[in-house]
Amino acid sequence: MSGASTTLVVDNKQVELPVKHGTIGPSVIDISKLYAQTGMFTYDPGFTSTAACESGITYIDGDKGILLYRGYPIEQLAEHGDFLETCYLLLYGELPTAAQKADFDYRVTRHTMVHEQMTRFFQGFRRDAHPMAVMVGSVGALSAFYHDSTDISDPTQRMVASMRMIAKMPTLAAMAYKYSIGQPFMYPRNDLDYTSNFLRMCFAVPCEEYKVNPVLARALDRIFILHADHEQNASTSTVRLAGSSGANPFACIAAGVACLWGPAHGGANEAALKMLEEIGTPERIPQYIAKAKDKNDPFRLMGFGHRVYKNYDPRARIMQKTAHEVLNELGIKDDPLLEVALELEQIALRDEYFIEKKLYPNIDFYSGITLKAMGFPTSMFTVLFAVARTVGWIAQWKEMIEDPSQKIGRPRQVYTGAPRREYVAINQRG
Ligand code: SDX
Repeated sequence: MSGASTTLVVDNKQVELPVKHGTIGPSVIDISKLYAQTGMFTYDPGFTSTAACESGITYIDGDKGILLYRGYPIEQLAEHGDFLETCYLLLYGELPTAAQKADFDYRVTRHTMVHEQMTRFFQGFRRDAHPMAVMVGSVGALSAFYHDSTDISDPTQRMVASMRMIAKMPTLAAMAYKYSIGQPFMYPRNDLDYTSNFLRMCFAVPCEEYKVNPVLARALDRIFILHADHEQNASTSTVRLAGSSGANPFACIAAGVACLWGPAHGGANEAALKMLEEIGTPERIPQYIAKAKDKNDPFRLMGFGHRVYKNYDPRARIMQKTAHEVLNELGIKDDPLLEVALELEQIALRDEYFIEKKLYPNIDFYSGITLKAMGFPTSMFTVLFAVARTVGWIAQWKEMIEDPSQKIGRPRQVYTGAPRREYVAINQRG
């Protein structure tokens, strides 16, 4: 989609730059020829005003708090569909028919086992390793076991790798959890749906039957839908950049897992819960609000703020509703963490600092409360985020690989280091 152009004046020289228009949302100025025409780069650390690619997968309107997967509002997908339906939609671009959904579910289910040697691979980790460290290692290791789906030039291998990633992430995540608590791995079961299978692999033990709570399974499935994709966030951009060099999909997803781990990104759900536990009671909230506003204090309200959303993150609203559902189902009344979270949200949203900087709760603010109530340790929260985001990473990776105009990503810089200077022998140095 392209249209008008715009004129840039550089050193009294006029440069015509094409303008590209999207279906919805901001247009872009195509600066790909800017350096050739002006000898200058643009400068945008953090990419606050830079579109790195063209994509048809996810659209976010940060000012209005809108999130669409292939055009469908996240609220409707979370309400009416399941996670594998969202996976199909993100991968193929359309909602599946009943037959397509049944076939997709069947194919994913039959890729959930991992190579048996992976169980020995896990033995190499310390038991107290952070599960995200185990995930970075084990996801990257998949390329050592599945050589027959690493040729990215082969569409069939690309799809097989995509299915394997989506199907095996829950199994690896459950193995990372079981390994950390010294319990035996539980094999996936083909008679369970995706999320029930994951809950069973995490919480069942060989000594007795495990009954999946359908309310919790539905809630977690919805949480997976909310986390599935989110445009060109840091970890997705990492996956795209890794993939642009031709690296195999397992290595690219491992890079995405590593990036997601950061507390400014997917690690915020773990950090947000630890923050709520540290605050402890509503009476202590004002001192933490003051810390968050103090320029000299690095403390930030974890689970608040967003690069794109300058309104309420639509996912946070659904997460809050899900938190109430899960706590009610589990008979947890007056959860102190939820009480602190709700009060903190109310105070922050009325505070001039947060209003002026447009800081609202994001997806990570309420997720930890729900996941903790379900029985997951805090260290597993970002692992669950990675399980859900794998389909988004894979869909974006496939879109990039299949884009005929794609080339290796290679940003430039503005150099502020030393100009050329001659080498000085060590006995001549001062
Ligand atoms: C995710 O990109 C995505 O789509 C990510 C994600 C996804 O689905 O992939 O949505 C998932 O990562 C959600 C975000 C989770 N992170 C957190 O909750 C960590 C806490 N939030 C902040 O670190 C911050 O809000 C970021 C990192 C999320 C966004 O940072 P930006 O866009 O770079 O904004 P900024 O750091 O420039 O902040 C703007 C101002 C600053 O003040 P000034 O320098 O202008 O005076 O707002 C302040 C910041 O100090 N600010 C906060 C704050 N977040 C920003 N102040 C207090 N508490 C906060 N949480």
